[in-house]
Amino acid sequence: MPADTRYAIVGTGNIGTALATLFGRAGVEVRMANTRGPDTISELAASAGPSVLPASLAEALASEVIFMAIPFTAVEQFAEGLPDWTGKTIVDTTNAHYAPDHAEEILNGRLSSHYVADVLAGARVVKAFNQLPAQTLAAQVPDAQGRRVVFISSDSAGASADIAKLTEVLGLSAVELGQIGEGGRLIQVPNALVLRNFTEQPLT
Ligand SMILES: NC(=O)c1ccc[n+]([C@@H]2O[C@H](COP(=O)([O-])OP(=O)(O)OC[C@H]3O[C@@H](n4cnc5c(N)ncnc54)[C@H](OP(=O)(O)O)[C@@H]3O)[C@@H](O)[C@H]2O)c1
Repeated sequence: MPADTRYAIVGTGNIGTALATLFGRAGVEVRMANTRGPDTISELAASAGPSVLPASLAEALASEVIFMAIPFTAVEQFAEGLPDWTGKTIVDTTNAHYAPDHAEEILNGRLSSHYVADVLAGARVVKAFNQLPAQTLAAQVPDAQGRRVVFISSDSAGASADIAKLTEVLGLSAVELGQIGEGGRLIQVPNALVLRNFTEQPLT
């Protein structure tokens, strides 16, 4: 990704806060937005660090890479924020499984990130940062235990590689699983890699 790539996190709840902690710890600039406006984010941004900037939703959506840290059932409302998603990279942290009963109706047989890709037509959708509890994701791993593994999947190999690189910059270990219908299926709740907390150590 170009050096001037702008990052944003939309959603300032559990997972948005965990992501802000990671960006703040690494000193990577990121804009954060929710539905209520930047004034409601100042405390969270201050505790995450100076690289975390409260923003309006419009400012956040102007970024090239957007972490979507919102309820699964809010994806269609989120999509209304831009007329065209072409050129955006969306990191999909949502889990349909924990959404209310009608998630199955919304999915209509699709994997959740395929549904997201349908709704945000034109965007490069990357499924990642969704398979661990927020507080686990944010917790610092002692050096001796290696780096926490984050699984990444996308139907765009380029987007997967871009988010893998960013994940490493954030101090985590990126494991690319390939396409959403293949490896991505493993990190869709409640499948095999969900709630599995791995760390990676260098080979000796
Ligand atoms: N909680 C976890 O440990 C965890 C772990 C992995 C993945 N996830 C997934 O991550 C997603 C977020 O979970 P969470 O626990 O962080 O939820 P949460 O604490 O309820 O926070 C949701 C955030 O989304 C924002 N939001 C809702 N609709 C929006 C919209 N249309 N546009 C912009 N922002 C919107 C809310 O804004 P306001 O603040 O303005 O209301 C809020 O900040 C879910 O899909 C969940 O399945 C959660």
